[in-house]
Amino acid sequence: MLSSDALEPYVKGLEVWVPHAEEGWQLATIQSRELTEAHITLETRAVTGDERTNPRMHMHAVPASPRFLGQDAQNTELPPLRNPKVLDGADDLTSLSYLHEPAVLNNVRIRYAAHNIYTYSGIVLIAMNPFQRVQLYAPELMTAYSGKRRGELEPHLFAIAEEAFRDMIQEQRDETIVVSGESGAGKTVSAKYIMRYFATVATQSGGKSLVADASKRDDRGTEIEEKIMATNPILESFGNAKTTRNDNSSRFGKYIQIHFDKQSYIVGATIRTYLLERSRLIYQPNTERNYHIFYQLCAGAPPSERAQLCLDECTKFAYLNQGNCSEIQGVNDFEEFAETQKALSTIGMSVQRQWDIFRVLASLLHLGNVAIAAQSRTNASIAEDEEAFVTATRLLGVDAAMLAKWITNKQIITRSDKIITKLTPAQAVSVRDSVAKFIYASLFDWLVTNVNATLCNEESASQSHSFIGVLDIYGFEHFKRNSFEQFCINYANEKLQQEFNQHVFKLEQEEYIREQIDWQFIEFTDNQPCIALIEGKLGVLALLDEESRMPSGTDENFVNKLYQQLDTPANKKYFKKPRFGQSAFTICHYAHDVTYEAEGFLDKNRDNVPDEIMEVLEASTFDFLLEVQKHRQAVSVAINYGAAIMNEAKEVASPQTKGRGNAGVSKKPTLGSVFKGSLIELMTTINSTEVHYIRCIKPNEAKVAWKFEPQMTLSQLRACGVLETIHISSRGYPTRRTLAEFISRYYMLVPSSKRPESPRDYCAAILDHALKSPDKYQIGLTKVFFRAGQIALLEKARTDKLVHAVTMIKKNFLARIYRRKYLALRHATITVQVKYRRILRLREKERIRREAAATTIQRHWRGYNQRQCYRAALCSIIYMQTGK
Ligand SMILES: Nc1ncnc2c1ncn2[C@@H]1O[C@H](COP(=O)(O)OP(=O)(O)OP(=O)(O)O)[C@@H](O)[C@H]1O
Ligand SMILES: [Mg+2]
Repeated sequence: MLSSDALEPYVKGLEVWVPHAEEGWQLATIQSRELTEAHITLETRAVTGDERTNPRMHMHAVPASPRFLGQDAQNTELPPLRNPKVLDGADDLTSLSYLHEPAVLNNVRIRYAAHNIYTYSGIVLIAMNPFQRVQLYAPELMTAYSGKRRGELEPHLFAIAEEAFRDMIQEQRDETIVVSGESGAGKTVSAKYIMRYFATVATQSGGKSLVADASKRDDRGTEIEEKIMATNPILESFGNAKTTRNDNSSRFGKYIQIHFDKQSYIVGATIRTYLLERSRLIYQPNTERNYHIFYQLCAGAPPSERAQLCLDECTKFAYLNQGNCSEIQGVNDFEEFAETQKALSTIGMSVQRQWDIFRVLASLLHLGNVAIAAQSRTNASIAEDEEAFVTATRLLGVDAAMLAKWITNKQIITRSDKIITKLTPAQAVSVRDSVAKFIYASLFDWLVTNVNATLCNEESASQSHSFIGVLDIYGFEHFKRNSFEQFCINYANEKLQQEFNQHVFKLEQEEYIREQIDWQFIEFTDNQPCIALIEGKLGVLALLDEESRMPSGTDENFVNKLYQQLDTPANKKYFKKPRFGQSAFTICHYAHDVTYEAEGFLDKNRDNVPDEIMEVLEASTFDFLLEVQKHRQAVSVAINYGAAIMNEAKEVASPQTKGRGNAGVSKKPTLGSVFKGSLIELMTTINSTEVHYIRCIKPNEAKVAWKFEPQMTLSQLRACGVLETIHISSRGYPTRRTLAEFISRYYMLVPSSKRPESPRDYCAAILDHALKSPDKYQIGLTKVFFRAGQIALLEKARTDKLVHAVTMIKKNFLARIYRRKYLALRHATITVQVKYRRILRLREKERIRREAAATTIQRHWRGYNQRQCYRAALCSIIYMQTGK
């Protein structure tokens, strides 16, 4: 039943949000409100909207009492309220008054329209792709964000990077920044700017103040940062390609760990890659391309090498021309090739080694051009003198006759015999392609290992104190036709979502309960059952491996096994058998239900090259190809060994006996198990670090600058868990400190005379003193919990207090110094004054004496004068009176 409080705001004239087919949500005004005992009816009228396609009147009939029996209305819930206009475009969604889907969408939309691409959503940074160069990444901006707390400046990638950097220094722990989002959302661009931020800020400050003491650093310091940045063009050339959704789409996942020493200078980096898309090497859908490096090589190779490797226009190679797209607008492959070569040189790769790599690439292009003919109606054959085949085998340094034999024939080893059978042309093409895929994937792995060796040698590994990892991994994928690749990608996303859930929801709320603070549990959907369905003992991956290891295994058998094992009432929430057809299965992921076509699962999972061809390749005269293969074998051994430990599988042989040769299909690691292993390893690493999240959003499908498609944005906001995070961040207590930590940092905020004995009372006293609103924090059993923003207030109070104390000390110290100076000065002044005054007095005395003498002379003179006058006058008067 609705409470009267909930209904109170719904008055005539109020603005609310109503669902809209294209806009997601549309503003509407309440026209009338009718409240009866049974229900409340609201009539809303859309503020804008196309009357023809969208009815502008919305009726909301909401039960007002338990006796409500239902009403035939469009909506049975109260419409969400619009936030006050003053909050439009808030930079943290958690500061909005009403937090719901339309409020989030509206806020992000307003900010995007004002070209603000970043918005906080609690602990997550939402990054909208501008599809245009923006002036947001200049070095001055990096400096501006350095040393600043999140929230002091506009939301930005740099603020998240800075937060991770500061946390790493202050809390002495490893950090991870997870950048996720769908293809073309901006993950790789964001990850690159984050790496650049660390390269710049760590060099400038070494984690301390920004007073550059770069002179103390040796050249290796800046060199390593250059090398780390150079990995981007290298990995992008070999692992990125043009797709319909992104001209520079990463076809692999990447986790780069940047290692810092105790002084917080970068000492090295290590890169882990995940699941390179192998099928792209042999097939590209229309308007898509193969990996950039092939086009770069065809465009940029100088004439002599071009002749040596028999290179031609890229359109002449079957592996490059299937998408009918040889150029990317705004990209010059010729220049890019020079860039790639420069980057390879920066990481210390010799020119000779670079041309070894390019030779392998060229050989693959020729291999793709090898025509496979039908000898008879069913048997495949290769003309050994065919130009493409001759060139391919020459470049690979392998025996042409043997390679031709094992591309067109198959050997089955039974207990007593070896039987060779002919392959059909289609089967032979698939073997040829599998060789190309195998070599390219091995080359890619070799490259990554080599890059790692230069980025992190033993010396830098020993100096490494902590690291910040940046994960750039494909987001959730859901197409019309989904295959093994989408399955693996979505499996990875389930795992990441679980980590996110655990981080944001589970751990948070469990901790509140453990700490016995006053807290209302928020519902959240844990996806563990879905993960168990995929990776569990009898899960999809295990069944796929089981089928893959059987020589007679087929995709149909695999799918039937899934139906038998997984289509049970216990799994009904996560696994579905499609109503029609027997070749697909549906998994209900956290973001969406996805139906996977089983066709090709087995082949892709086996990722198998016949043993006989492996032997041909191992007999190559091309040393570099041998090195690449050796590396591949070492990795396989490591994986098998790791799997053996992980599964405690007794039947898996020891690493020494795990060499190739007679190991057989069943012992080779499948792609699914390799991926599962690397994912578990990744999650273990991530779980041991503090995680920061950046969710990239692609605002429109057409990659148009500043165009906002609401439905597309909404579905991404839903899929990445932003909406749930908002609730927890705003209703929960995102910041916490242990009581001891808290007291040791903020003890100075209460006068020493008022400090209670018990830690909880002590904390209460500090908080009471420093934060005036008690609803902004809670004191648990061992920790203090704060609402967002409170720590900043405490820090400010602490800084003020310390500044005050420092000022007092400084004041008294200066007073003492200046007093001493003053007294000495006064003494000296008085001495001078005494002396000078004496002189003055003596002078005065002399003057007075002289004056007195002059006065005496004057007096006597005047007396004498007057007497003379008097006598003369007297004589004259007497004479006149007497006449004598
Ligand atoms: N911050 C940004 N500023 C300007 N342009 C951007 C920004 N972020 C992304 N873009 C544009 O979007 C394109 C796609 O971005 P990016 O390659 O990072 O996507 P992605 O999420 O890594 O996709 P994929 O999963 O396919 O690799 C870039 O080539 C660039 O044109
Ligand atoms: Mg990318």
